[in-house]
Amino acid sequence: MLHQETTLTPCNFVIFGATGDLATHKLLPALYRLDLAGKLPQGMNFVACGRRELDDESWRQQVRASLEQKLEAQGEVLDRFTGRFDYLRGELNDPQFYVAMKELLAKPKLGVCSNVVFYLAIKPGDFPAVIKNLDTVGLSGRRGQHRIVVEKPFGIDIESAQTLNQLLHRYFDETQVFRIDHYLGKQTVQNLMVFRFANTLIEPLWNRNFINHVQITVAEQRGIEGRADYYDKAGALRDMLQNHLMQLLTLVAMEPPPALEADVLRDEKVKVLRSIRAIGKRSVHAYACRAQYRAGQSGGQDVPGYQDAEGIEPNSITESYIAAKFYIDNWRWRGVPFYLRTGKRLNQAVSMIALRLRHPPQQLFRETPLEVLEPNWIVLSLQPEESMHMEIHAKQPGLDMNTRVVKLNAGFRANDEQPLDAYETLLLDVIEGDRTLFIRFDEVEWAWRVVDPIVKYWAQERDFIHTYPAGSWGPVEANRLFDEDDTAWRNQV
Ligand code: BG6
Repeated sequence: MLHQETTLTPCNFVIFGATGDLATHKLLPALYRLDLAGKLPQGMNFVACGRRELDDESWRQQVRASLEQKLEAQGEVLDRFTGRFDYLRGELNDPQFYVAMKELLAKPKLGVCSNVVFYLAIKPGDFPAVIKNLDTVGLSGRRGQHRIVVEKPFGIDIESAQTLNQLLHRYFDETQVFRIDHYLGKQTVQNLMVFRFANTLIEPLWNRNFINHVQITVAEQRGIEGRADYYDKAGALRDMLQNHLMQLLTLVAMEPPPALEADVLRDEKVKVLRSIRAIGKRSVHAYACRAQYRAGQSGGQDVPGYQDAEGIEPNSITESYIAAKFYIDNWRWRGVPFYLRTGKRLNQAVSMIALRLRHPPQQLFRETPLEVLEPNWIVLSLQPEESMHMEIHAKQPGLDMNTRVVKLNAGFRANDEQPLDAYETLLLDVIEGDRTLFIRFDEVEWAWRVVDPIVKYWAQERDFIHTYPAGSWGPVEANRLFDEDDTAWRNQV
């Protein structure tokens, strides 16, 4: 995270699943941009692993074409970047594949680096085979040189997460394990910490005395886009809420850490998760609402419903939307509801954290033309814009005592400043060995514990799910989560 202070040790970087979606759309562009920014050490090489019949040269051509198209990449840097790659074809459960990998990593071009990063951009079901086979050929590196990066979802419930973790720990030391949640690499998410802990203005307001409630929204316009096989088993709770949204909640709610160090920061996040009020078996309906999109209109186009997407089980009741309410029973937050929601095929693609402040104790301006005084808000937008603002009241110029809401803008990025993809930040952290923005297992475990009653309850309720039209803001039933009548979902940044 503190990139300016670290010196990079060259390492080799093995990408499992190099021909897959994640590698193509996220990892390769991010690594290329790091090379462009001069952040990749000289002598750092990549091994792309896949099942397709490709040789080194055809793989490099493929990477080149994809980066030219996506990023308009060209010139020396593109040559240098593609030249860093070797391609290794093989099956993840074939021991010979790992023998070949070890030989490749020992060749003169790659052999200069003793550190290797193994990036598992593959289906979670394939993790065990990779982890065990790396160990068999001696590539787990117990001394802590090698690193392994594991993408979410980390398990499908608390028990499977524990099993996966035991397996990892059998072969790798915790210091080698990087559990990635790309939301932690987003600039606004990191800015949240700066906003809260570098300004005396904010922190005094950031508690139950001033905040009425918190809303965390990650709304997506896209559908499931060819990921039916994974998504239909996961659903919005496992795909987004248990990890990305829960991480955002911990960062909003945590206490100031004593230092900006990986473990102390993660200790504070775990304290938040441990303070979340357990949802009783019988109260799941009062705390969570799930729904699935039906046919509708998105971005001006007719789009089919979830059940009509290719690869979805007939009559599937997997949720493409979840809204949930959590209470954090500690001194700072007791009684303040945190409303979280996420869904596919919603009206707009917008992700934000919005905190609504309490009304002033006295309604001094009640008799003025503005009859209902809107409460103040603090809004942090993650995407599409990266921004922060506060909404306050000010007098309208003129003879009458009219008020209006004005935005105090703490714009995060000027127009001429480049956006940074979350993966750029996180991949650089992996290369540097900085685990601050990665998830410790107890965070995963506590996050599963928090949602476990919902997971279990929904697993039994197999015959019904609410629906919402594609292109809407989700099911009306989600409104029943609100504690107060004057609360509504905030859809606009
Ligand atoms: C991924 C989920 O982790 O995050 C996807 O698996 C989701 O379903 C994606 O679309 C959203 O990420 P972002 O960065 O586009 O908000």
